[in-house]
Amino acid sequence: MTFLNQEIIKNKRDGKVLSQAEIDFFIQGIANNTVSEGQIAAFAMAVFFQGMNAQERIDFTQSMVNSGDVMDWSDMNLNGPILDKHSTGGVGDKISLMLAPIVAACGGYVPMISGRGLGHTGGTLDKFDAIPGYNATPDNTLFRQTVKNIGCAIIGQTDNLAPADKRFYATRDITATVDCIPLITASILSKKLAEGLDGLVMDVKTGSGAFMENLDDAKELAQAIVDVSSVKTTAIITDMSQVIGYSAGNALEVAETIDYLTGKTQEPILHELVETLCAQMLVQGRFVKDFDAGIAKVNAVLANGKAAEVFAKMVSALGGPNDLMENPDKYLAKANIIQPIYPLQTGYIAEMNTRMIGMGVVELGGGRRMVTDAIDYSVGFSQFCHIGDKVELDKPLAFVHANTQEQADKTKKNLLKYINVSEQPLLSPKVIKVIVS
Ligand code: URA
Repeated sequence: MTFLNQEIIKNKRDGKVLSQAEIDFFIQGIANNTVSEGQIAAFAMAVFFQGMNAQERIDFTQSMVNSGDVMDWSDMNLNGPILDKHSTGGVGDKISLMLAPIVAACGGYVPMISGRGLGHTGGTLDKFDAIPGYNATPDNTLFRQTVKNIGCAIIGQTDNLAPADKRFYATRDITATVDCIPLITASILSKKLAEGLDGLVMDVKTGSGAFMENLDDAKELAQAIVDVSSVKTTAIITDMSQVIGYSAGNALEVAETIDYLTGKTQEPILHELVETLCAQMLVQGRFVKDFDAGIAKVNAVLANGKAAEVFAKMVSALGGPNDLMENPDKYLAKANIIQPIYPLQTGYIAEMNTRMIGMGVVELGGGRRMVTDAIDYSVGFSQFCHIGDKVELDKPLAFVHANTQEQADKTKKNLLKYINVSEQPLLSPKVIKVIVS
C-alpha cells in the first residue's frame, strides 16, 4: 500500500490513530530515505503533542525493529536463554560491565548492543573503548562466536540494527522531541528486540542524574516499555540521585569494574543494583526458582571468580589485553593530575546535583559535546562520596582526575557547588524504587 508522507503526518497532527500500514510505510521511508529530515521532525512533533495509543506504540516499535536485521540465534545451538539489560542512563553507571559476565557465568547468553554517552550520562561503549585493543565493532561471526563460546559480548550498534531509529533519533535530538514516551519506548526497544532476545530487564533511572528526573515520568516510561515489548520484560525503577559506585569517567569505571569483579571493592549502591538486575535476569531465564535464589547465585559467581573469568575472556576474545585483570594500570589511561577535593564544612552528605557532576566529567574531556568530539578516557572522579556519608574537613569528597591544573581547579570549585552538606545525618535514598512487570 502506498501513502503520501505528508498525509500520514497530517493524520497524526490531527489526532487520528495511524494504521499499521501507515506506520510501516513511514518507518520504511525513514530507513530508505524517501522520508525527508523535515518530515521526520514534523512527525515526531505531531507524536509529541498527540501521543500514540497502545496498538500504535506496538506497531511503531515493531516497524522500527523490522527496518533492519533481527538477530537469529537458532542455528547456534545455545543451551540457555538470550537475555539483556538496558539502562536509561546515569552517572557512574558501569552496571553492564559487571552484569553481562555475571549472567553469562550463571549460564545465560548476553549479546549486548550498547551505546555512547548521551548528554551528562556515560555510555558503556565509551568505557570499553578505554580498553586498548578492544574491538567494539567486530564482524558478525566474531560477535556470535564470542556470545556462544564465552556467554557475552558487549559491542556497539551495527549499521543494520534498527537503522530507522538511527535516523529518527538524530532528528529528534535536534528538534526537541527526545522526551516523548512513545518515541523513547520504540527507540530503546527496537534496538534491544533486534538482538533476538528471550527476556529483557530495563533499568529505568530516576533522580537528579536521570533523564526522567521525576518518579511519575519514570513509572510511565517503565509501564510503556513493559506493555509494548514483545518479549518477557521487567522494568526496575532505580535511584539516580547520586553517583553510582566510587567512580565516574571511562578508564576509572573500567578499573572499578575489575576491582568489583575480583572482590577488591564493592560499593554498596552499585552492588545492590548489580545484584537486583542480575537476579531478575536469572529469574526471567529460569535459572533460579525465585529472586532470593538469584541473588545467592550472583554472589556465588562473584565469590568463586567465574564472573571475573568471563569478563577477562570476553575482553581478550574481542582484541583487548590478555592480562587486563592482573595489570589494569599497564593498559588504562591515567590522568596527569589526581587531586583530592576537600569539603568546606563538616556534616553529612545530603544531596547531589548528579546531572552537573556528569557534566563535570564531560567538561574534563571524558564525554562529548558534539558527536565528533574525541574522548579523554583518563579523566573523571574516583573515591566519590555518597548521601549520608559523614563529612570531615580532611576527608576528600572525591578525587578529580584531570590533564591540566586549570581543569582540575575548575572542577574542584564546581563540585563543591553540586554537593550539599547538612548538619543532620541522613539516610541514603532507597536504591530500588519500583518493579514493573
Ligand atoms: N535512548 C534511546 O536509545 N532512545 C531514546 O529515545 C532515549 C534514550
